[in-house]
Amino acid sequence: MKLSEKNIFLQKYGNWAVVTGASSGIGRALAIELAKIGFDLILVGRNQPSLAELGQKIENQYFSQTKIIVADLSNTGGNQQVLDKTRDLPVGLLVLSAGFGTSGLFLQGDMLEESEMIDVNILSPLILSQAFALRFSERGKGGIIFLSSIVAFQGVPFAANYAATKAYIQTLAEGLQQELGQNRIDVLAACPGPVGSGFATRAKMVMGKTLTPEEIALPILSALGKKGTVFPGTLTKILKGALWFLPRWGKVRVMGMVMGGFTKHRR
Ligand SMILES: NC(=O)c1ccc[n+]([C@@H]2O[C@H](COP(=O)([O-])OP(=O)(O)OC[C@H]3O[C@@H](n4cnc5c(N)ncnc54)[C@H](OP(=O)(O)O)[C@@H]3O)[C@@H](O)[C@H]2O)c1
Repeated sequence: MKLSEKNIFLQKYGNWAVVTGASSGIGRALAIELAKIGFDLILVGRNQPSLAELGQKIENQYFSQTKIIVADLSNTGGNQQVLDKTRDLPVGLLVLSAGFGTSGLFLQGDMLEESEMIDVNILSPLILSQAFALRFSERGKGGIIFLSSIVAFQGVPFAANYAATKAYIQTLAEGLQQELGQNRIDVLAACPGPVGSGFATRAKMVMGKTLTPEEIALPILSALGKKGTVFPGTLTKILKGALWFLPRWGKVRVMGMVMGGFTKHRR
């Protein structure tokens, strides 16, 4: 980002940003990119040592202030903790990157894990986005970035529930873009393709070619306030282009082949 763009971005959304899922992958890369722009950061996750290491790095390299909130967002108490501990800070940007996936045969799925995924991927963004949108509308400005996915636009065999959580996020973000626009709050759905992070290990997938979190962080931030949905990174754009002209049932077939490949070691 050019200096002039950084200044406009900071004026619109600064000076504190909350980043959930900051302990790893995309959230971590977004937090670092925000620190480069000049934001002070509230870093949220369960992994205290990773959050502390990131906080130290940001303070030492970019001279931003940081605050760590160790919270499990799969429960109401964790989300409430984020709201309570940020109440007195001038937060103007919310980045909702906490999330995880599952994969494999639906018939063998662990329903406790599947429900936890709904709590983290759906309920937490719902609760936090409304609470911060209320604060932002009082300030008369703000921004919210949701982590959707390229899997949000069709059913995905072998990751059906995960894709459904992202379809929810995509639809929520699209609705809020128009509605909250009236309150001068910008809303973005970021839809990456496969990214090399902690995601694949936790989802028990073996991905082929992947993007790096660092490759997609700046394209995501640059799209806020300019687009409603961003497909960050060249690989994402290629995958999106390859699926775009297929009917929905055809997209499901192709995604089934792709996810079937990512999970074939499990069958
Ligand atoms: N990687 C991909 O291919 C890809 C593609 C499209 C979209 N996405 C989405 O991008 C987002 C970030 O994923 P990533 O690739 O960065 O994965 P990652 O490296 O595994 O990071 C996931 C983050 O979510 C946090 N998290 C998970 N469960 C949590 C819980 N119960 N409470 C609080 N925080 C929790 C983790 O923090 P702790 O472990 O510290 O709790 C971690 O910081 C997710 O929403 C994912 O669905 C990923």
